[in-house]
Amino acid sequence: MAKRILFVCLGNICRSPLAEGLMLRLVRENGLDVFVDSAGTANYHVGEAPDARTVKNAKKHGFDLSALRARQFDIKDFDQFDMIFVMDKNNYRDLMRLAEGKQQAEKVHLFLEFTGNTSEHEMPDPYYGAEAHFENVFQLTLKACENLCELIKSHRI
Ligand code: 4NP
Repeated sequence: MAKRILFVCLGNICRSPLAEGLMLRLVRENGLDVFVDSAGTANYHVGEAPDARTVKNAKKHGFDLSALRARQFDIKDFDQFDMIFVMDKNNYRDLMRLAEGKQQAEKVHLFLEFTGNTSEHEMPDPYYGAEAHFENVFQLTLKACENLCELIKSHRI
């Protein structure tokens, strides 16, 4: 059965849809049986396409995120997904408040920490940042998604 992975950030318009889009491509290219989705802890941007700056930066690198639409995290996601990767510690705290029991709580991991980034454990929020911040998030996300694919391919998760 397909492994089910959910990426979560605050608005679901910058960081987590980027992770979804990059991971979707890597999963396909590597022939992995993985279902990928993303969501936001907040409802501010539900139904919207990813932030124009995120879309533009990803397009520069050959990834088309324009068809993705934001949705809010739902407590049912704890049962629908095997692993939930949050972008920062605020997202982690928000999901811990919603988690019912150890089994649900243990599904949630900080994305960068889990994928072995030793210098940064939180994905910086680029929303109030400049172009360089979006590029930094892209590079961090690409590396983390590549590492996640390696973990899946080698059956370590
Ligand atoms: P994201 O970025 O959590 O990576 O999607 C943000 C999007 C929207 C807001 C903050 C961060 N906001 O305050 O509306």
